[in-house]
Amino acid sequence: MPLTRRTLIAVSLSLTFAFTPTIVFAASPTPAKGEHGMVVTAQHLATEVGVDVLKKGGNAVDAAVAVGYALAVVYPNAGNIGGGGFMTVRMKDGRTTFLDFRERAPLAATKTMYLDKDGKPIKGASLDGYLAVGVPGSVAGFEMAREKFGTLPRQELMAPAIAYAKDGFVLNQGDAASFAGGAERLAKDPAAAAIFLKKDGKPYGIGEKLVQPDLAASLSAISDKGPDAFYNGAIADEIVKASGAKGGILAKPDFEQYAVRELKPVTCSYRGYEIISSPPPSSGGVIICEILNVLEGYPLSYLGAGSAETVHVMVEAMRHAYVDRNSALGDPDFVDNPVSRLLDKAYAKDIRDKIDPFRAGVSKELMPKGFGESKETTHYSIIDKDGNAVAVTYTLNGSFGAGVVADGTGILLNNEMDDFTQKPGVPNLYGLVQGEANAIQPKKTPLSSMSPTIVTKDGKPFMVIGSPGGSRIITITLEVIVNVIDHGMDIQQAIDAPRIHHQWLPDTVYVEPFGLSPDTEKLLAGMGYHLDLSDQIWGQAAGILVGGKSLAQIEKGGGARYNGAIDSRAAAGEALGY
Ligand code: GLY
Repeated sequence: MPLTRRTLIAVSLSLTFAFTPTIVFAASPTPAKGEHGMVVTAQHLATEVGVDVLKKGGNAVDAAVAVGYALAVVYPNAGNIGGGGFMTVRMKDGRTTFLDFRERAPLAATKTMYLDKDGKPIKGASLDGYLAVGVPGSVAGFEMAREKFGTLPRQELMAPAIAYAKDGFVLNQGDAASFAGGAERLAKDPAAAAIFLKKDGKPYGIGEKLVQPDLAASLSAISDKGPDAFYNGAIADEIVKASGAKGGILAKPDFEQYAVRELKPVTCSYRGYEIISSPPPSSGGVIICEILNVLEGYPLSYLGAGSAETVHVMVEAMRHAYVDRNSALGDPDFVDNPVSRLLDKAYAKDIRDKIDPFRAGVSKELMPKGFGESKETTHYSIIDKDGNAVAVTYTLNGSFGAGVVADGTGILLNNEMDDFTQKPGVPNLYGLVQGEANAIQPKKTPLSSMSPTIVTKDGKPFMVIGSPGGSRIITITLEVIVNVIDHGMDIQQAIDAPRIHHQWLPDTVYVEPFGLSPDTEKLLAGMGYHLDLSDQIWGQAAGILVGGKSLAQIEKGGGARYNGAIDSRAAAGEALGY
């Protein structure tokens, strides 16, 4: 029998293949080049802040801290000090760590706090206003990162952010677009509207300057006194006061008791590369690894980028992994996460054995379990002259978070509480069905999908990658890795390439508009898939490839040391090397 693609995929169910990638040429700009360092963020001024820190001799963690504070000023829809996030670090000596500075539920939180007396979810309660706010972690996280791995004083790292808040910055087209998107939400809170909207109630436009004096004062206080200014001082007092006055439950002990967790990253191997990514309370690293373990058994390079067969096996791997995500994962202080079972290569083979090579799976036939995420977050990737690599994803959850600012602080607060299960089995705002492992409890962290990831090869950094995108963060990050390793794309092509996503429920393959050819769509429909090409939210990945812009260039030699790519979907972003 001739070895056709169809027969090959059937055979591949039980075999592991390792093919040399074919080289594809997607239409994308050339990645940014650098020999000494690279910073990739969703906002060009923040990128420049990071590169300046590296040029002054700071390391990648110093730059990550400075960028984190800068984004809180120049990218306020997701950059923040009123939210939380994750940082994956790999130092030049091979040490790796993961800082969890994600939000925690307030002490007064209860499992049913977003349900009415009939047990039905109250519309908007977990998304809008102070009741939606989790205890913020970013300030504590940045300080722990700086103290443990940084080299420069806090004041030096925070100075650019303070300057942009005090003196203002001029909006470009990408900045203006994100402000326009948040105008309606921000108008509902007088303190937020006073900062982010003009006197006529309109958002700031291209060429106009946004000045944030209250935020400058809050940042200056943190710069001078450290995290105490946020957690034990006037800032916490103001937030607690506003929360109490406006229907929230935040109390001073929530702030006083907040602590960053240093955790061991999740790791796995994929075709000879090591993936270092986020452990619970993120589902990101575990689910990326689970999907990669399944995909390792298929010859993706041979099947080709965007082919019906590649989409089929990817969707099936996603379907199975997202069921596990929904049912099994949660805050490790509250839930026993079965990480080693989910990462077992034998478990991946069991999943492959269940995948019909010719037909779509059916989500309803898999155990119904839950999960939850949102769509507005930001990711940045940094590497320095010594090869220290940092991947940070942090968030307010929704765009501009809960849309509220406590008077005088200038700090937008998150609505991360929406990432918890409000009621098992009931889809959240984004149609996601969540489970018991992610139920609300005081001091618990909601399950996340954020996946700041570092990939190594032969003990050396190979890729730094991550993205916003809610539940799609996982598949976006995964697809960039697969596009580089299996399909031979350069880092910019891999990030720009059209995306697909499946998350178990709804049982729909989301496809980026024009992502697949009509013939491919027909083949997939014939296999039983329901495709949705209408959705526009596909994240904004930020990545770095080391040693060349693509695998082919790395193997040939002669490529730039650092190759950076910001997603072409990120209108205000920039990759900048030096
Ligand atoms: N709120 C987005 C996430 O944590 O995944």
